[in-house]
Order: sequence, then structure tokens, then C-alpha cells
Amino acid sequence: MPDTSSPDTKKPDTPKPEANALWGGRFAGGPAAIMQEINASIGFDRRMWRQDVAGSRAHAAMLAAKGIISEADLADISRGLDQVAAEIEAGSFVFDIAQEDIHMAVEARLIALVGDAGRRLHTARSRNDQVALDVRLWVRDAIDQLDAQMVELMRTLVEQAERNNDLPMPGFTHLQIGQPVTFGHHMLAYVEMLARDRSRFADCRARLNECPLGAAALAGTSFPIDRHMTAQALGFARPMANSLDAVSDRDYALEFLSAASTCAIHLSRLAEEIVIWMSAPWRFIRLTDAFTTGSSIMPQKRNPDAAELVRAKTGRITGAFVSLTMVMKGLPLTYGKDMQEDKEPLFDAADSLALCLAATAGMVRDMVPEPANLRRWAGAGFATATDLADWLVRTLNLPFRTAHHVTGRLVAMAEAKGTDLEGLTLAEMQSVESRITREVFGVLSVENSVASRSCYGGTAPANVAAQAASWRQRLAS
Ligand code: ARG
Repeated sequence: MPDTSSPDTKKPDTPKPEANALWGGRFAGGPAAIMQEINASIGFDRRMWRQDVAGSRAHAAMLAAKGIISEADLADISRGLDQVAAEIEAGSFVFDIAQEDIHMAVEARLIALVGDAGRRLHTARSRNDQVALDVRLWVRDAIDQLDAQMVELMRTLVEQAERNNDLPMPGFTHLQIGQPVTFGHHMLAYVEMLARDRSRFADCRARLNECPLGAAALAGTSFPIDRHMTAQALGFARPMANSLDAVSDRDYALEFLSAASTCAIHLSRLAEEIVIWMSAPWRFIRLTDAFTTGSSIMPQKRNPDAAELVRAKTGRITGAFVSLTMVMKGLPLTYGKDMQEDKEPLFDAADSLALCLAATAGMVRDMVPEPANLRRWAGAGFATATDLADWLVRTLNLPFRTAHHVTGRLVAMAEAKGTDLEGLTLAEMQSVESRITREVFGVLSVENSVASRSCYGGTAPANVAAQAASWRQRLAS
């Protein structure tokens, strides 16, 4: 099996002779190498070191404020944690698999640095509320970062919409040409999706923002702790009300992964459109050298690899959601080691989504529409047939169903003649409906079609300009 551990994690292949210093009191020997390997999370949870140190600082300050440890101990702990943080930051900290996870690694180093004060830090705390806290803090930070990236992508889409508010393109249903729309309108559709994604993450953030610290192993603690103080120090709205729930809940992680997967699905739809639009028979857009790759054998090729990868990574992100859902299903209260399996899917989904958002923003910024092609196809496939039917309703007072039928016959006639609707003569039109006048030709153009769709939410260039301006303003604050 390939060695997938991170390079600076020591993984001895023989059992450690001595028992773990942090929990090994009742143990005579150390774990088997394979036990250590399956048990350890330090290879991946070291990413949470900032959250772990922040949680320990808040916990120690509270213990001192409540007289549970002395001010002198607090000073030693603070100094020790400063040094631990500095060592990790500098890359000189030794992550040892024997310490299982980031919580024990930080604590062991703290004890090595400051002695007994370090041994007092774990008073009124368990790794169960500690890990629950760290993961919550990590997810909260991830949401804040992703939110900034979503805003950035939305701004990029708004810029494309402003530049192309009146550029006609075909609008599709069933990937068949339906009605002409504007390129800007299409861009703003994704802005709306991303706005809902942001609000899903914001909901998740608001619900997760309760502090599990102080739940200890599962039942709370007999020490006179102040959970409101630690909750406030760490930016939480309040402490969690039930200690059993506090150590066993991961629904915020599922909610995060569900929101991430919906956002990724949105990105994958845009990615798919970029792939199609780039293809030679379509040629709706161009991407520059910055966002395409070549082929090692076909010299003419320009491939939209970034878009394809954004499309594909949706599988990983949704997979992470499914993976954690299966880990949590049927777990009895409270903590089970199963829950250590929450981190890799979370980290991978957050990393993948961050990469997808950045790559998508890059592609949207890079993307240059091809006006001639877009315009040409906007009017193809009898795309203004609905405009003709609407004219029959408005001008001749035909019931819509009748107008639909008349238009259908005109489309069939044009198709047989090998022309578009504008290519029919007035006499030909009148052979189907005698009251049609020359005026009808005014509504058959693509420009007229999009300009006429000025109802709220419609594709008219004026609407698109107004919506883009409103988004620009909303995204500025
Ligand atoms: N590494 C563990 C995790 O990620 C930390 C909690 C361990 N708690 C325990 N009781 N063994 O879930």
C-alpha cells in the first residue's frame, strides 16, 4: 500500500514500547503499529492547530478567571501556547503519530515546555468537547473564506453581465433553441444561484455558532466553569445547552457539506456550459491561453480542462457529503471514534470547492463571447416563433392556443421553404391567417424579441443593466 502519510509525520513500523504519556496510566505497553496507524488522525487534523490553540487559550483564561487554576499557571500556559504556535508556524514543530491527534500533540509539547501548568490545562475538558469545538471553529472559518470567494465570483459574473447586457444569444430548453435571451441575463442567473448558496452557508454558520466547550467527555463537569465566558471569547452566540448533544453533534458538518455540494452543482452547470460553448460547432465563447490547455498529439487543440475539472470535482464534494452521512448514520450517543472520519471529507470538500470557485472566477473573467455566432444562433431554429404568436394574440385578439397553432403552421411552411420566419412573404403568411399585416415583421427580429421581454425578471437589455447595477451595489457592501 502506498505511504500516504504526510512527510513529516513519523510512522514507526514497530510498536512503541511505552504507554501513551497522556492517557497511558492503566496501560502497561504501547499500541501495535497497525493500531497506531488506524487510530491516529494527526496526519490530517493538524490542519486545525490554530483552532485548537485558540480553544485552549479561551479554556485556560476561563479556568483562571474562575479560580480553577492560578494566574501563574495561566501565564505559563499562555507563554507555552505562544511558543507552540510559533513552532508550528515556523515548521519546526514535530508531529509524531504516537500522539494520535493535534489535541494531544499540542498538549504534549505544552507540557514539555512549561511542565505542571501544562498538565492543568485539561482540567474540566475532554478531547470530546475539544474536537467538537475545533471542528466547529474550522468549519466556521471555512464558511467565511468560501463566502468571500463566492462574492468574488459573483462580481466577475456581474461584470460580464454589464458588458453584455444587450448581446443576444439563444436561450435553450432541452438544449434546443427556445427563445432569444441576452448573454448578460444568462450570467446573472448564476449570480442568483450563488446568492442562494451564500445564504445556505450563512444559515449553517448561524446554526453552528454555539459552543460545545465545557460539555467535557459527555456529561458536563463538576468544576465551577463559566461556559458563557468561553463561548463569548471564541465568538459563539451561546454555549450548547445539552452536553450529550454538544459532543455528538456533527449535523453542522453535514449541513456545510450539503451547502457545498449544492454550490458545486451550480458551478458544474456553468462549467458544462463553458465546455459546450467552447466547442467548435458552437463557438459561443473563447478562453485565452490562461484557462485552456493543448493536446500532446493534436496541435490544433485548445481544451477547457479547468471547466471539466470543476464539473468533475462536484463528484468529490457530493461524495464527501454522502461519506459523512454514512459515518453518522446509526451512531449511538455520544462520541464514537467513527466521528474522527468527519475531517477528511470536510477538508477535501472545502479545499475542492475553494479551488472550483477560484477557477470559475478565473474562467469567467477570461471568457470572451463571440457576438456574431451568438447573434446568429439567437435567431436560428425559429426562436422568435413565440413573438409571432404573442403578436397574433395582441393584434388580432386570437386566443393564445389558436395563435400557437397558426404560428406552428407558419413555422412548418418556413421550414419547407428552407427559410426562417422573416423569410416568408406577407402573402404566404396571409394564406394561413388572412388578417396578418406587414406590421408582424417588426416583432420577428431577435433585438425586438429580447427588448420586448421587459417584465420583471425578463431578459430585456434594460432589465439586465438594472439588475447588474443593483448586484454591483449589493456586492460592494
Ligand atoms: N482525534 C479524535 C477525533 O478526531 C479526537 C477525539 C478523541 N476522543 C476520544 N475519546 N478518543 O475525533
